[in-house]
Amino acid sequence: MHQDVESIMFTKEQIAARIGELAAQLDKEYAGKTPLMVGILKGSVMFYADLLRAMTIPVEMDFIAISSYGSGAKSSGEVKLIKDLDRKIEGKDVIIVEDIIDSGYTLSYLKRNLYARKPESVKICALLDKYSRRVVPIEADYKGFDCEDEFVVGFGLDYAERYRNLPYIGVLKRSVYEK
Ligand code: IMP
Ligand code: MG
Repeated sequence: MHQDVESIMFTKEQIAARIGELAAQLDKEYAGKTPLMVGILKGSVMFYADLLRAMTIPVEMDFIAISSYGSGAKSSGEVKLIKDLDRKIEGKDVIIVEDIIDSGYTLSYLKRNLYARKPESVKICALLDKYSRRVVPIEADYKGFDCEDEFVVGFGLDYAERYRNLPYIGVLKRSVYEK
C-alpha cells in the first residue's frame, strides 16, 4: 500500500496527539453527561475507536452507514441511509463521529435526519475538514485537522475500499485513481 502514497499528511503520532486533545475537550464539555457517539461506517472506525478510548466520561455507542452515490474520488449530492441506528435517540446528547467533511452533503443530510428524532443535542466531531470543497454550509463542532484539497487515504479513509488500514493519513498518488 505504501508505494501508492505520494506523501504523508498526518503521521500516526500527530493523529494520536490530536485525538487526545479532542477527547479531553469532549470530556470537559460533556462532563456529567453520557453522550451517544454515533460513528459513520466505515471511514470513522479508526478515529472512533481511538477517540472513545481516550475519553474518560461514560459514552454510549451506535453506528450508522451511509452511501453517497458516485464512486471513486468524488462524492455526489445524493445520500442514502444503508444502516440505521439500533436505538432511539430521543432526549440524548448525540455526537456524530466522521472521518472527513468534504462537500458537506453527508453531514447535512445526517444532521437533519437525526434532529427529526428529537435528541437533546447533535454535534459533529470530524477528524478532517476539507473546507475549500464545501458545497453546503456545515461546520464541525469539533475537528482534528484542516485538510488541503487532496484525495487522502488511511486511518479509516479509503479509495475503492482499500488503504483503510494504513496507520497514517496520506495523499494518494493520482496515478492510482486516474488510470
Ligand atoms: P461529503 O458528503 O462530500 O462531505 O463526503 C464525505 C465523505 O466522502 C466522507 O465520509 C468520505 O467517505 C468521502 N471522502 C471525501 N473526501 C475523501 C478523501 O479525500 N478520501 C477518502 N474519502 C473521502
Ligand atoms: Mg465516509
